[in-house]
Amino acid sequence: MKNSFRIMRDMNNFPYILTISSEKGGVGKTTLATNLAVYLKDMQEDLQVTIISFDNHFTVDRMFELNGQKPQGTVEEFLTGVKGVHLLHQGQYGINYIPSSYNLTNLYHGFKGPMALCRMFAESGISGIVIIDTRPDLNILTQNALYAADRVLIPVKDMPSLENCKHIFALFEQRGIDKKTLSLIPCLIDNRIKFDGMFKDQQTLLRAFAVNRGYRCTNTYIAKSPKVESLNTNPDGKIYPILHYGKETEVNNQFIELAHDILAGYHQTPEPRSYLYHQWLNEQEGQRKEAFLARLEGILPHCVICGAIHDQQTAQRGFYFETADRTSRGFLHSDCFTGMLCSILYDLHPKSDLFQLSLKVVRETTSSSVTMFRPLIENETGRQKLLFQQMDQNGNLITERELSLDGFFEGFFDGIRDRLFLLLNESMTTQDGSLRSTWLAVHPVDEEQPEKVLQDAPYRRIQELHRLISEMTIK
Ligand SMILES: Nc1ncnc2c1ncn2[C@@H]1O[C@H](COP(=O)(O)OP(=O)(O)OP(=O)(O)O)[C@@H](O)[C@H]1O
Ligand SMILES: [Mg+2]
Ligand SMILES: [Zn+2]
Repeated sequence: MKNSFRIMRDMNNFPYILTISSEKGGVGKTTLATNLAVYLKDMQEDLQVTIISFDNHFTVDRMFELNGQKPQGTVEEFLTGVKGVHLLHQGQYGINYIPSSYNLTNLYHGFKGPMALCRMFAESGISGIVIIDTRPDLNILTQNALYAADRVLIPVKDMPSLENCKHIFALFEQRGIDKKTLSLIPCLIDNRIKFDGMFKDQQTLLRAFAVNRGYRCTNTYIAKSPKVESLNTNPDGKIYPILHYGKETEVNNQFIELAHDILAGYHQTPEPRSYLYHQWLNEQEGQRKEAFLARLEGILPHCVICGAIHDQQTAQRGFYFETADRTSRGFLHSDCFTGMLCSILYDLHPKSDLFQLSLKVVRETTSSSVTMFRPLIENETGRQKLLFQQMDQNGNLITERELSLDGFFEGFFDGIRDRLFLLLNESMTTQDGSLRSTWLAVHPVDEEQPEKVLQDAPYRRIQELHRLISEMTIK
């Protein structure tokens, strides 16, 4: 049962993330991260174990790089969007790693959001367990590593490092994230130090203080061992794992215990955070599609200027119109709309020679601006007239002009304003024939894919422009 489930998840390629973090330097983060990787792999051979470091100490590389292996792509590439699985290097002891990078600080500004890294893992294609070794600080990248984690180990070696933990807990509190992923682990504990009284040694003392503050602690601690320390310093510049080179130490047993604990947590988490995030992304995508279809629903099937039904064969749809109250929405043929503007702006009859010339000018302005029609009331007569306005995509007014609606209410079409009247008639009139107190905006769209304007991002821009327009005062 366990096995089939394991295979299923590996197929899904959503990693379980273990982050090792503490603001204090030299508490044993990197030693924990690198050695845990080796122990986990040793315990379950078929498990993919990957380690990455946000530090530039290259300890990960010195421990796992195979002789002669050339790094191709680093953590920097991963953090700038390259799919993680393409950057995995198969290294020593069967561990995968992504090579470290010299400097990641220039990437920090790209990490304004707290969940960017979680998304990268959701889309990484990496399976199994990923261990993240972080820098001794709480920069935005470390924060991302904390929020992406299914489990966080916070090594503490003394009171100052225990004191520092409160910042991590505070971060989780601020963001309303469940703190149950966080646990402290006493590290670099010198067993020779004994106290009188209730707290007989360092780790009991630290544990008591931690529990007192409401922090969870792992059952295991890691003792300080000269042998372990020596594994870092070798003539060949390599770093050796405790499992293979420090088997006789008590630290070996402590790592075995800890790795068992981590592995149990992994198997108890069928849906790691990266998977949940992937699901959430899918839902968002689905909702975007639904919103798009809903927007498409209310669109008029025809061009309200010429009356022709839109289909693949008819003329190009080059404009989208929408009233401020959103009750009337649809596409206009490019020629219908620009032709209409030529008539009303230059008083030109479509059959006149100048018409073609002015058409060029109109085409150019309408392709980059929003055209608006707002009904106004004439002070003296109380009759409705029309304000024509064009503005750029930032909502700055380019031109404006008042148009008389003479003939519109009487149903008298003069050949010049016919097409405007048709547009108004279908989009803005009430039952008694007057204009509703709304306004109409016409936006240029891509003739190849006019419906694209109804997708999330472009449609949001239109709504934003409409908001600006509503706030504009009319003299
Ligand atoms: N169990 C241990 N026994 C003895 N020495 C240890 C043990 N664990 C780590 N060390 C030594 O302590 C030093 C700091 O360890 P390590 O580099 O893992 O800490 P770190 O928290 O990653 O440091 P930094 O914050 O600088 O990244 C190293 O020299 C390491 O060899
Ligand atoms: Mg380190
Ligand atoms: Zn038309």
